[in-house]
Amino acid sequence: MSFVITTPLYYVNDKPHLGSVYTTIICDSIARYKRLVGEEVIFITGVDEHGLKIQRTANEKGIEPKTHCDEISKIFNFNWKSWDISFDKFIRTSSKNHELVVNEFYERVKKSDDIYMGVQKGWYCVGCEEFKDNPENSSTYKCPIHQKSLEWKNEENLFFKLSKYQEQIEKIINEPNFIEPIERRNEIINFVSRGLKDFSISRTNVSWGIPVPDHDKHTFYVWFDALLGYVSAISSSEADCSLEKSINEGWPADIHLIGKDILRFHAVYWPAMLISAGMKIPKKVLGHGFLTREGQKMGKSLGNVLDPDLLLSKYGNDPVRWYLIKDISLGNDGDFQDKRFVDIINNDLANTIGNLLNRTSSMSRKWFDNKVPNIQKISSENKLENFAKCAVENYILKFDNYKLDLAANEVLSLAINTNLYLNDNQPWILIKDKNNLPIVEEIIYNVLESTRIIGLLLQPLLPELSSKINEQLGSIYKKEIPWEQQLRWGLLISNSSLPKPTPIINKLEYE
Ligand code: MSP
Repeated sequence: MSFVITTPLYYVNDKPHLGSVYTTIICDSIARYKRLVGEEVIFITGVDEHGLKIQRTANEKGIEPKTHCDEISKIFNFNWKSWDISFDKFIRTSSKNHELVVNEFYERVKKSDDIYMGVQKGWYCVGCEEFKDNPENSSTYKCPIHQKSLEWKNEENLFFKLSKYQEQIEKIINEPNFIEPIERRNEIINFVSRGLKDFSISRTNVSWGIPVPDHDKHTFYVWFDALLGYVSAISSSEADCSLEKSINEGWPADIHLIGKDILRFHAVYWPAMLISAGMKIPKKVLGHGFLTREGQKMGKSLGNVLDPDLLLSKYGNDPVRWYLIKDISLGNDGDFQDKRFVDIINNDLANTIGNLLNRTSSMSRKWFDNKVPNIQKISSENKLENFAKCAVENYILKFDNYKLDLAANEVLSLAINTNLYLNDNQPWILIKDKNNLPIVEEIIYNVLESTRIIGLLLQPLLPELSSKINEQLGSIYKKEIPWEQQLRWGLLISNSSLPKPTPIINKLEYE
């Protein structure tokens, strides 16, 4: 059985922003972790290409929607590669295979007698691609997310009988593991308790969409189409892609990681659609918070949008990953602050982890002929070993519960404790007396061993830094040995050569 994890399928109205980078990095970390603990992972990302928003963006550029989508989709795909995102599937909702799956799904829902023709009247936000529930002063009201006015719609649409699933949905959302964190679950419980209304699943005024097979002027509503991207992605790269094949090869998803603004679609509409089609529902919907910059909402009109490409080229992948993973508790809103970013990277990565590696491998090379010391005896009471064992246990517990910030903190505290152990034991004083050699060997061995474990624990969080630490210790990470086994204390080989130390992370300057 595969472990299926998804990012949202991003709208191609613009290139990736910090919010999409955030979600994708978190998914990447979880996917890497799951692979390390032996799961077969299908990590899905992709783009949501249809709908009014994209149609208008292309019109404004004076090009065909398809040409526009080809261009931006390529940017997304390339972008995730430059962030070293380990995705397995990249789905484009404009692909033929995806269309096939949507049509098959529609037939199943129709068979359940869950589709009917009706009239949809209401205020619509094109940015959200969503009808808003009775906003006050609708003609002057602006969508708080997109800061745009709503548009009045009154048209014939096909509807999905969501109201029929009220009880089933109530049961699902009350399961403690389905929606996390709890604040998000409560929002949804609240929403559902007000009574579910049927929602429209087709449009007559949007040509850039998948045509509804049995209704000439209708295309599918972008959300009805996009959610199915998670399913079609599984078999999309195969010539015989089909709904059945995707079901057999991995569905349901284990986790949908999404922002809080699109929780309703994933935790309410989507499970109901799936039940109607006789399919399994996702196991978990993890809703993360929103990122602001220096305490302010990011927006083009405010001129404070932080370009993730610039961050990547200026600081590299690991610092951005560390900040987003460690400084933001998954589920809460987070703030990107330039000064805080520089301070965190310098304190945690450069001064604590980088410095630990550098000074111990230098000492070891200097005193032990460029090698890991050859330990004679291991004292019964090894404080550092105990710290490391505890850190590994806690880290796994935290990661298993998707508390990535806390897992990152476990690694950091192991590094802090290792530095303290070194300072307390002062091997640079002990070495002056030759009789102390066995003790110094043991201290240095312990510190190097703890650093090796730190490097391994960083693997899903900061893959680049992790392999640099690994190389600097001369310890080749062996893929054939399960990662969790490699976390056992005492595996660093005595007398093995240590390469010349090079800085693994540069200190940042605050401008
Ligand atoms: N296309 C839909 C998703 C369809 S999934 C089948 C969509 N796309 S989006 O590009 O607008 O948004 C993608 C994700 O970015 C959402 O999860 C949204 O919550 C997230 N974010 C948008 N702005 C954000 C921040 N400022 N901070 C964090 N995440 C944010 O919605």
